[in-house]
Amino acid sequence: MRVLAISGSLRKGSTNTAALDALARLAPHGMRVLVYQDLAKLPPYNPDDDVDQGSLPQLVEALRAMIGACDAVVIAAPEYAHGVPGVLKNALDWLVASEVFAGKRVVLINAAPRAYHAQANLREILTTMSARFLADAFVNLPLLGRTMTAEEIVADPTCVRRLGHVIDALVEAVGDG
Ligand SMILES: Cc1cc2nc3c(=O)[nH]c(=O)nc-3n(C[C@H](O)[C@H](O)[C@H](O)COP(=O)(O)O)c2cc1C
Repeated sequence: MRVLAISGSLRKGSTNTAALDALARLAPHGMRVLVYQDLAKLPPYNPDDDVDQGSLPQLVEALRAMIGACDAVVIAAPEYAHGVPGVLKNALDWLVASEVFAGKRVVLINAAPRAYHAQANLREILTTMSARFLADAFVNLPLLGRTMTAEEIVADPTCVRRLGHVIDALVEAVGDG
């Protein structure tokens, strides 16, 4: 099973990125979690450039291909001013016309449960893009105000249990076809 994990934070010490790195470490045999690395390099979305394949920016084509090829997408994003970080929204805007999210299984991890506006906003955006949320698609981690590395997260029983729920939900959903 291939899972693409996208962090909405570009911060070097990002808790959201650490949570996704932890998910990758906890993934069982047979599940590969790839943490997307090029969010900061995507060009600003411009509908004029959102044209037929072949003339799209290369990183956009690559992202579309990655999403098309994976079995599920896991997103962890901070909240900025009660909204989705601009860099993440920019990536999603590049994906709307391609319809790669249509029917794609999605899980949203919220590292800071106070940030419910961004989660609600992401849910609305991805619903508009016809994503398919898993039954346990909205997972909170108790990381508000804490700076934790992936190593620390995989050593924290509560985080491991909740990330385990994500893994179980992915296995069940993808196994069911
Ligand atoms: C510009 C900016 C705006 C923010 N706005 C909010 C907000 O509206 N609500 C909130 O709960 N946290 C807000 N935060 C806090 C971040 O969401 C929080 O620090 C988050 O855990 C950072 O995630 P990261 O460690 O993955 O970078 C804001 C942070 C920044 C830098």
